[in-house]
Amino acid sequence: MKYKTCKYLEGSLYLAPNEIRACCQRFFYKGKMRGDAVLLKTTKGQKITSEDIFKARSKMFENIQNDKEDACLGCSYIEEKENSEITKESNFLSIEHHSFCNLRCSYCSDIYYGGKKPDYDVVDFLHEYGKEGNLKKCSQVVWGGGEPTLDKNFKKMLLEINKIASPKIYHRVFTNSVVFKEPIKEFLEQELIKVVTSIDAGTPETFKAVRGKDKFFDVFANLKKYSENKPGRVTVKYILTEGNSSEEELEKFVEHCIKYNLNQCCYQISMNYKFENLSFDNFKSAIYLFSKLISKKFKKVFIDDHILARFSEFDEKEVEKLKIFLKENKIENIIFDSKKINSIVIFGAGQLSQELINKAKFFKNAKFDIVDSNKSKIGKSLNGKIIKDPGILKNDERPIYISAAQSYDSIFSYLKTLNKTDKIISGIFI
Ligand SMILES: C[S@@+](CC[C@H](N)C(=O)[O-])C[C@H]1O[C@@H](n2cnc3c(N)ncnc32)[C@H](O)[C@@H]1O
Ligand code: SF4
Ligand code: SF4
Repeated sequence: MKYKTCKYLEGSLYLAPNEIRACCQRFFYKGKMRGDAVLLKTTKGQKITSEDIFKARSKMFENIQNDKEDACLGCSYIEEKENSEITKESNFLSIEHHSFCNLRCSYCSDIYYGGKKPDYDVVDFLHEYGKEGNLKKCSQVVWGGGEPTLDKNFKKMLLEINKIASPKIYHRVFTNSVVFKEPIKEFLEQELIKVVTSIDAGTPETFKAVRGKDKFFDVFANLKKYSENKPGRVTVKYILTEGNSSEEELEKFVEHCIKYNLNQCCYQISMNYKFENLSFDNFKSAIYLFSKLISKKFKKVFIDDHILARFSEFDEKEVEKLKIFLKENKIENIIFDSKKINSIVIFGAGQLSQELINKAKFFKNAKFDIVDSNKSKIGKSLNGKIIKDPGILKNDERPIYISAAQSYDSIFSYLKTLNKTDKIISGIFI
């Protein structure tokens, strides 16, 4: 007998102020935004136990078997397995337990800035849950919100989790970087955390329009300080949304990143996930920003899964329009040509690669291999290809494409140890 399940349901917890979710996926199915699957709704003062988590996971698992979990219908993460692996334990935590924020981003909502305190005592829950051994395999904690650094317990909680989780743990903190926080700098230096900050503007005026407050220069100044010694641990994000995607705006953004010494950071080009489709203009803006960053020698730039998941083949008219646009801007080389690239190695066997290989026409004709450093992925298959050990790169002269978000920088560093950074190529598959 086979069961329908997903890795998030089996091992992730998203701690929100008044509910605990199994995931933070957002996708459209039958005209409705789904995902953000809720395991349990909480009530004021409730004490949450590991047994509650287990029961909620089991219930969701049962519903998925009968296609009764509305949030999960049409989800690409559902896979068929021989065994159900529902347990109390978690290997991934997302702490987004309050919704206080000092910005008001146009693409965000009350869910994140509505000013809610958690119904339950998060410190207490994590302490009890961890004490029972449920976090011993937890290797990643993501801090979101709200603005996570506004919580006076931020430092204490982070250190507490570290004591009870897997020794391999690392924390990814989503912060708007409006206010400089000493613990962030301290943890960055200790290589305990990575930081992701959206900027989404190239001018103070657009920053105010998109992010709701006049804090453009504060964010740049703080990122400069955070990234001083460990730039690869800082990801700067640009969410393409209404009013921030003109070529002029994107150019100014790149200029500011140079001015504030952010060229060694990682760059994530994203889009407002509330848009159901990727418009041709959004795609053009993403390509434009990508090419501007690459032309200024920024090395760690990627287009994220919100864009890739919405990407579909263009019709002939659009391909023509795209060609004209690329030519006008002298950026034709940014698009990979399967006639010129005989064979390529994709480094990273995660969601980004899955989307890329599924959607881009390039992969219908090209020869390629996929490698991943995660031992548990090696030997498994992704889109019909067996994932290989990156050790094969030692005697390999093929170009390498890094297809990863959080681990972009560590893959880059690994390739440095193999003397292979000259083989890394940056560009766009269509
Ligand atoms: C909700 S915020 C919370 C953490 C922190 N306040 C921040 O802004 O980084 C977490 C992440 O979600 C992203 N985000 C929020 N709304 C979004 C949207 N509609 N589309 C794409 N990304 C979004 C933000 O850019 C941020 O990187
Ligand atoms: S099936 Fe999809 S929506 Fe449901 S919990 Fe898993 S990732 Fe989330
Ligand atoms: S800074 Fe983060 S939480 Fe605050 S409004 Fe913007 S996206 Fe939402």
